[in-house]
Amino acid sequence: MSTTLIATQLQDGSDGASIQQQVAAMIDDLIAQLPNPKQLTDEDRRRIIARYTAVLEGNFIYWMTATYLATHSEEARMILIDNLLEEVRDSHPVMLRKFTMAANAFPRSEDVLAVHHTMTKMRLFLGRLQGVQSLLTMAFFEGLIQKFMPFLAALAAARGSAEMEYTDVHGVCDIAHSEGLFRAVLLENEMNPISADANLFEGVELLRDVFQNIMQDPAIELAA
Ligand SMILES: [Fe+2]
Repeated sequence: MSTTLIATQLQDGSDGASIQQQVAAMIDDLIAQLPNPKQLTDEDRRRIIARYTAVLEGNFIYWMTATYLATHSEEARMILIDNLLEEVRDSHPVMLRKFTMAANAFPRSEDVLAVHHTMTKMRLFLGRLQGVQSLLTMAFFEGLIQKFMPFLAALAAARGSAEMEYTDVHGVCDIAHSEGLFRAVLLENEMNPISADANLFEGVELLRDVFQNIMQDPAIELAA
């Protein structure tokens, strides 16, 4: 189904099921590409955890906040507030830092720079404050993180860590977040509709690029 057709369906008030299915298929496709953690080198395991942390620790709350600023619908904003309150109250960045430090995989400058370009594109996209596209991107983000957790936990375990609070918490609670965010996409589109020629999946595709970048640093490929 073309992106334009989906945007038109959104405007016609469809239930959004096809969009949710398409996002779920993109997530499944990314997860299917993950390597077996046991077959990676220990340095590759370290780099993946480090790049994940370089992206998530400083950006998750920022990107969710940017989406809040882009969102006009009060109901959709309340869903984002619930997400943000949990992130801040339970200090998910602290949880992630504990996870990463226990796996001895705290990002080095080369890890941060390895995700620089794709992360910058995401920041600039969210800076354009497009409510529907930003909300869909966050729905994809939550769903992807939840399915990514067993892999991330396996990387840390293979590095000798038993600190799994971050992966345990995000493997479960973000399911509810993701469902709420899909509802928010539809609520927002009623109030602040996306134009028929816009790419509804623009942010989703950019975030997919970020995750592919977490998995595969181009510099590593060149060196191989
Ligand atoms: Fe979180």
